[in-house]
Amino acid sequence: MSQSLSTIESSSRTALVVLAHHRTDSLSAHVAQLAVGRLAAAGYTVDLLDLHAENFDPRMTVADQPDWGDRDKRYSDEAEAHMARILAARVVVVVFPVYWQSTPALLKGWIDRVWNYGFAYGRSKPRLAGKRILWLGLAGATAADEIISGMHQVLEAQLSEGLAYYSGFAHSRVGLLPDAEDQPQSLDSEGNLVIGAAIEGDARAAHYAAFDATAERFVDEFVATELVDA
Ligand SMILES: Cc1cc2nc3c(=O)[nH]c(=O)nc-3n(C[C@H](O)[C@H](O)[C@H](O)COP(=O)(O)O)c2cc1C
Repeated sequence: MSQSLSTIESSSRTALVVLAHHRTDSLSAHVAQLAVGRLAAAGYTVDLLDLHAENFDPRMTVADQPDWGDRDKRYSDEAEAHMARILAARVVVVVFPVYWQSTPALLKGWIDRVWNYGFAYGRSKPRLAGKRILWLGLAGATAADEIISGMHQVLEAQLSEGLAYYSGFAHSRVGLLPDAEDQPQSLDSEGNLVIGAAIEGDARAAHYAAFDATAERFVDEFVATELVDA
């Protein structure tokens, strides 16, 4: 990497969209494209970071393990390149499928290796101070499932409180997108997974139109907040 991280500054209309999914035909990939479209329409220059397509390795390495005695440690070239992409963005949108009420390993490893000591935290003036982030989590559970509100709270605690605000972000929100499966799933009273009939025809089109509209609304509201505060 040629440029020192301490010299990188984001200009006002720059965005990083991070996609954490292993399939190019996933609903998550589709939502990432919607986010890119909405941000571009609002005048942002968008950097799309597709972690799987870019072969990001989520496993922690010795090179990327923090050295608590050296907050200026130089990490691996891969991690430093990702840090530079975060620094260059004024706003970040992360798109992922909810796995076990959390992030998939691909995204968790990106956080662990890249949001590192001396970069994301551990300085009196955090390098990420003032940035804004939106987490779009797709959930297989239906919107009516009572598990959804607890899932939202858990994700806000992990991603907004535990990560973004800890790292100096000015704004963080989790936009939870339930109904990501076209066969509604629930558990019966004995704990069996009940998979409902696939939604078809006009109902299917309406289902995904509503899903897309919710995703776009999250991005539009996020952009509107950014522009009001800019
Ligand atoms: C390993 C794994 C764990 C999952 N855990 C949850 C979960 O805790 N809650 C939930 O609502 N859906 C869960 N799901 C369903 C996914 O969220 C859903 O399949 C995904 O959002 C669909 O979007 P995609 O096409 O982008 O994968 C899980 C799926 C997998 C494969």
